[in-house]
Amino acid sequence: MTKEEFYESQERFQLLAESSLAGMYLIQDGKFKYVNQAFADLFGYQVEEVLNDLQMTELIYPEDRPLVQENIRRRIEGDENAIRYTFRGLRKNKSIIHVEVHGRRVQFNDRAGVIGTLIDITETKRAEEELRCLNDQLESRIKERTHELEASYRELKLAHAKLLQQEKMASIGQLAAGIAHEINTPIQFVNDNVTFLHTSMDELLAGMQMFLNIIQSASEETLLSDIKNNFNAIAEDLELDYLKTEIPQSFETLQEGIKRISRIVIAMKDFSQPSGNILEPVDVGKLIHTAAEVSCHAWKHVADLTIETPDTSVFVNGLKDELGQVVLNLITNAADAIEDTQLGEKAVRGRIQIQARIAEDKWAEIIVKDTGCGMPPEILSKIFDPFFTTKPVGHGSGQGLAIAYHIIKDKHGGELHVESRPNEGSTFVVRLPALP
Ligand SMILES: Nc1ncnc2c1ncn2[C@@H]1O[C@H](COP(=O)(O)OP(=O)(O)OP(=O)(O)O)[C@@H](O)[C@H]1O
Ligand SMILES: [Mg+2]
Repeated sequence: MTKEEFYESQERFQLLAESSLAGMYLIQDGKFKYVNQAFADLFGYQVEEVLNDLQMTELIYPEDRPLVQENIRRRIEGDENAIRYTFRGLRKNKSIIHVEVHGRRVQFNDRAGVIGTLIDITETKRAEEELRCLNDQLESRIKERTHELEASYRELKLAHAKLLQQEKMASIGQLAAGIAHEINTPIQFVNDNVTFLHTSMDELLAGMQMFLNIIQSASEETLLSDIKNNFNAIAEDLELDYLKTEIPQSFETLQEGIKRISRIVIAMKDFSQPSGNILEPVDVGKLIHTAAEVSCHAWKHVADLTIETPDTSVFVNGLKDELGQVVLNLITNAADAIEDTQLGEKAVRGRIQIQARIAEDKWAEIIVKDTGCGMPPEILSKIFDPFFTTKPVGHGSGQGLAIAYHIIKDKHGGELHVESRPNEGSTFVVRLPALP
């Protein structure tokens, strides 16, 4: 290499090092032997200050000094040839910068040293820190929200359970009152007729006794004439003609009353057998008959109720007592709506028509149609909301249809529709997947 070539090459490398944007350095014996302009700028010093007056450690944040010193030692002693790491540097004005170093062991003047480049990553670190902070905030927000959601879910479940419980209690109360009333009437005439038969029997026995007395006290010759002479008087006394027609009638009424009581008891038993949460084939027609029987007290004073079912029974796979509850709620609502129209003088007896049928080959439909007060659109849009009621306090809790909707839609995958016009009546249609 000529002298010119040597100078040119040196100038080239000097230019490269001096104009590099990365800081460059050479360390030997714990001192800087060379730093470029970018290195000095990074730490806020003049190049000369770094080279003449500074200990290497003065550019390192105290806590990171052991780490940097250890890394330099490993390279100088040959444990590791090249290394890349980050540390915190100290600028002349004592502010902290984050730097990333790529260092390598070299031989310089026949002794070991370290050269390397260094770049400022303060901005990247700050952005990373900010991101981490945001991430933490986001995570704690999500945790908070999740907690809130979990709490609301628990509250909702509790409210739902309470709602069901309240509904059960309310309907048990209503049913018990209605059934007590229903059973009371036939028991009244069973009681009246038993009393009548008891007195009649006493009278007949007394009559028998009179004849026995006559028979015992009469002589053989006078027996026939004595009986004949007394018969009319005794028969009149006993009102025998009256008893002859009344006693059989009384027995019939008695039987009728007992039959009525046992019908109610059977329906009650059918209704009260809890099906738990087990789906079972339910005969829709039978379900309607039982619900109508059990709710008899609610409708019989205000309406005639007819039930129409197809010749072949319609079955659904369902929860029997809950479906029974739905039909009962619809009948009670229909009866209430009819009663609403009967406040005036000219009360007309209403009509509740219940029909079971198969629709579109796949639905078992229960249609409950009434001639009650009907509903305007603004009420119709709210009737399935829990606690919505138009009934006076103590009459309706506004849960009947909300519960019915939940039972039909959520528990059976069915549908509950309604059509209604004010003053014309309402039609509720329950649709359940029919069993083939
Ligand atoms: N057949 C119907 N005719 C007219 N209005 C009805 C009929 N069925 C329901 N409604 C209206 O819908 C409202 C809500 O009915 P829902 O059965 O949910 O509650 P409720 O009957 O008021 O009280 P609950 O059934 O809890 O005793 C009723 O208050 C009534 O205004
Ligand atoms: Mg109701």
